[in-house]
Amino acid sequence: MRAEEKTRICPVERAGGLEHSFRRLLQNPRRILKPYVSQGMTVLDLGCGPGFFSLELASMLFDSGKVIASDVQEGMLDKVRQKIAGTAFESKIQLHRCREKSIGVTEQVDLILAFYMVHEVPNKDRLFGELKSILKQNGKIFIAEPSFRVPKQDFEETVEKAKSVGFKEIKRPKLLFSRSVVLVNPNHNHF
Ligand SMILES: C[S@@+](CC[C@H](N)C(=O)[O-])C[C@H]1O[C@@H](n2cnc3c(N)ncnc32)[C@H](O)[C@@H]1O
Repeated sequence: MRAEEKTRICPVERAGGLEHSFRRLLQNPRRILKPYVSQGMTVLDLGCGPGFFSLELASMLFDSGKVIASDVQEGMLDKVRQKIAGTAFESKIQLHRCREKSIGVTEQVDLILAFYMVHEVPNKDRLFGELKSILKQNGKIFIAEPSFRVPKQDFEETVEKAKSVGFKEIKRPKLLFSRSVVLVNPNHNHF
């Protein structure tokens, strides 16, 4: 596969495929994310697409905390915007438009979810450098990549790039059709 194909961005017209009811059975957001989410957190849903994870994340935070649903495509953010309009989610989900070369989130966050998005980013070193600067100490980053699109070797290279900025691998959750890893931003004061 050529480099441009590997990093091809999922078009807005294909967003429906990400929200299929069948997916909820295979990749239930609550089941996947429960060990990592707690009340009051600020969670960055990076490359949120139509918000398959964003809304569920917001409801897992209960009364406090928020989700920053971020995407490089305004069309994806529009889909999230339409879903939450006039609902209680409006006050818990903040929409953020990323630029192609920069996430642009400056707020410190407790958890970053990057589900099926990292392979779409051409410069992963820059991506992880930026994520390192906004993830709180002891904060976690959950990365999942589609195994039908991302070969094992490419995934391992991604994990190495994440580690090279200082993240530490803590878990390899088992997820259907996916390769996934959870890393932590270590608290150096504790060494
Ligand atoms: C395959 S979709 C996955 C959407 C969602 N995470 C899910 O699992 O349903 C990948 C998303 O990442 C977004 N994306 C790609 N590159 C990005 C970047 N550099 N910054 C922010 N979002 C990006 C795309 O626009 C697309 O909505």
